[in-house]
Amino acid sequence: MSGKLTTSAPWQNLTTLAESISTQHMRDWFAAQPDRASRYTMSACGITLDYSKNWIEPDVMQALTELAEYCDVPKKRDGMFAGDIINNTEHRAVLHTALRNFSGNPVYVDGQDVMPEVMATLDKIKQFVIEVHSGTRTGMRGDAFTDIVSIGIGGSFLGPKIMTEALKPYQHDGLNVHFVANVDGCHIQDVLAGLDPATTLIVMSSKSFTTQETLQNTLTAKQWFLSSGGSQADIAKHFVAVSSNVQAAVEFGMAEENIFPMWDWVGGRYSLWSAIGLPIALSLGYEHFEALLRGAHEMDNHFRSAPLQQNMPVILALLGVWYRNFFAAQSHVLLPYYHYLRGFPAYVQQLDMESNGKSTTSSGNAVDYATGPIIWGSEGTNGQHSFHQLIHQSGTLIPADFMLPLSVPNQHHEHHAMLASNCFGQTQALMQGKTFEQCYEDLANKGLPEDERKKLAAHKTMPGNKPSNTLVFEQLDPKTLGALVALYEHKVFVQGIIWDLNSFDQWGVELGKVLGNQVLGAIQDGAGSEQFDSSTAALIARFRQQQSD
Ligand code: F6P
Repeated sequence: MSGKLTTSAPWQNLTTLAESISTQHMRDWFAAQPDRASRYTMSACGITLDYSKNWIEPDVMQALTELAEYCDVPKKRDGMFAGDIINNTEHRAVLHTALRNFSGNPVYVDGQDVMPEVMATLDKIKQFVIEVHSGTRTGMRGDAFTDIVSIGIGGSFLGPKIMTEALKPYQHDGLNVHFVANVDGCHIQDVLAGLDPATTLIVMSSKSFTTQETLQNTLTAKQWFLSSGGSQADIAKHFVAVSSNVQAAVEFGMAEENIFPMWDWVGGRYSLWSAIGLPIALSLGYEHFEALLRGAHEMDNHFRSAPLQQNMPVILALLGVWYRNFFAAQSHVLLPYYHYLRGFPAYVQQLDMESNGKSTTSSGNAVDYATGPIIWGSEGTNGQHSFHQLIHQSGTLIPADFMLPLSVPNQHHEHHAMLASNCFGQTQALMQGKTFEQCYEDLANKGLPEDERKKLAAHKTMPGNKPSNTLVFEQLDPKTLGALVALYEHKVFVQGIIWDLNSFDQWGVELGKVLGNQVLGAIQDGAGSEQFDSSTAALIARFRQQQSD
């Protein structure tokens, strides 16, 4: 990019186009363009994206593509895959794509090919999973493991948990995988209650090995283990860790052979492809974990090779920029119509908001444009009976991504047909709405006085013209899920390039960690309360008083 984004020619062009588009209605485009759906539908890696229900015409797509070119998206994309130090505040390469690189080509970091280590770690995961599943790796009494407790938070939790949940039909029989993230003791207490320590394996996942929540939960699990029959010597059989900080893991008491490595060039929210995905492999079996990685690799290849106009992550990214920067959309909703994919909005929430929730450019200047939107959502159809009302009839613009597997294993046909009809029906209702005249007409012969009829018609009027994407998959198998996750990773990356952000650091979470630790000190021994503002000091005092009562 040369020069200021908001005064660039593509940005100015888009500003002008936005003015003219805002007087038009998608309903009219669909009426006038019989081929609109096919023109704006594309498929890649088992995913079909219909983006026809958006505020786009050929000139808009052209201008958005020019914006991507102006911002050097192709060059920066290639730089990421090549191991350039694009995380410039932490001086790190960004190479989660190397973790799923099955091309046989080397990937260099500081002149060193990382692929041998990546493949060796995959092999270690594979062997470990085979041993646990076959019962050759056992607990302290020689019994096979029945339960895995995965402890981690943020990217060391969401990816493993949500992918495991999404692939429930592929889960390995006889092994229950539980996830604990929150430092709220209720969570670990509930999970450990009823488990037999002799058949439970604890997987502690922390890239940094410094995260308070994860360390505390692991200590609690260790106390539970030791107080219910386990000995210090048995810990090596029951506790494994995934971390890039091997030394800290060893100091914590983890046996070195039980530590699965990862590397500082893998960001936390991009880490499910590393050994952080061990609980996924344990839950599904190694072959399904590898299929997940292979699906992501396919999407990487698509992202690297498809022209910008036919590049699915780029299209999703540009549509997001269109609404965020030219129509002030503050949020973006994700609506998976598939119960097992219900966690996906939370996954993308961290991915997107921790990556692009920033307002300083990569060279350290303040932005003068909007950046990452609020990401939210939940499974359909539940939202239809809750928050969809606001999407349909409020004045707030909320672009939506609908997602649906076209077939699902072991599902009653009637249920799936209803699920699909609701999904498609919602996208149609959002797009076309219902005019005042249609609503007024519907109220004929209802015996209403004229003013009552008009008033009710006004309430029932649906403006429509609400944008949405629809993503459908033949089925959500491990490979397709891998491609779906990589699709959103690359979407977020492209948006970060356009907004000139470093999408791979997360300094905004640091202050809270530091202050949280200071408050903990004050809560524990009352020291240093004078350093807090009056509100925080009073809250600490109130808490301490309650504890001593
Ligand atoms: O606090 C945010 C964060 O750093 C995330 O980016 C990360 O996924 C999470 O904490 C967990 O970090 P770790 O794996 O180092 O425990």
